[in-house]
Amino acid sequence: MPIERVLLDRETIAARVGELGAVIAEDFTAAAGPTRGPTNGAGELTIVPLLTGSVIFVADLMRELPLMMRIRLMRAASYPGKATKSQGVTIEDQRHESLAGRHVLIVDDILDSGRTITAVRQQIDAHGPASVKVCVLLRKRVASAMAIEADYVGFDIPDQFVVGYGLDYDGYYRNLPEVVTLKPEAMA
Ligand code: IMP
Ligand code: MG
Repeated sequence: MPIERVLLDRETIAARVGELGAVIAEDFTAAAGPTRGPTNGAGELTIVPLLTGSVIFVADLMRELPLMMRIRLMRAASYPGKATKSQGVTIEDQRHESLAGRHVLIVDDILDSGRTITAVRQQIDAHGPASVKVCVLLRKRVASAMAIEADYVGFDIPDQFVVGYGLDYDGYYRNLPEVVTLKPEAMA
């Protein structure tokens, strides 16, 4: 077994995702109005999951959000291959439609240095959205952290490399239902 330690088990994650959903739903209902049926974009939520790490989290989170929403996928990569330190951010946007006037919720797996979210935010801000909020499942507290805050955080974790529930090492382990650390020999 490559797992060293289970940081967050399934029940703990599910309970917290439910809580996050309730808070976010309340905030966006105040900002965007309750679900009334399609409004052709005005006042609705656009959820922007960052691929690939947020796929499991966003699938669970969005089912806790009874709001009119659309999804817009963006890919942000900073840890190519076996890297466990950020190598600089590249962003790919799924489409070229404007996000002007929309309420945007960026969803990512983990806030580490903050470079990923900063880069994605800059790109989204340029569209002139009505609002932009950031939700991350995990936040690592690192000394070098940039001055970026997430609006919604699932869990604060120590500065360790973790995998599972969407997070990978070299593309693997995203399907583990828990958030875990790996034994050093599994990251060789
Ligand atoms: P940041 O740009 O340094 O904030 O890094 C955020 C991105 O790096 C996340 O979207 C993750 O894909 C990846 N990342 C950061 N820490 C970890 C980790 O412990 N395990 C797996 N991926 C991580
Ligand atoms: Mg990622």
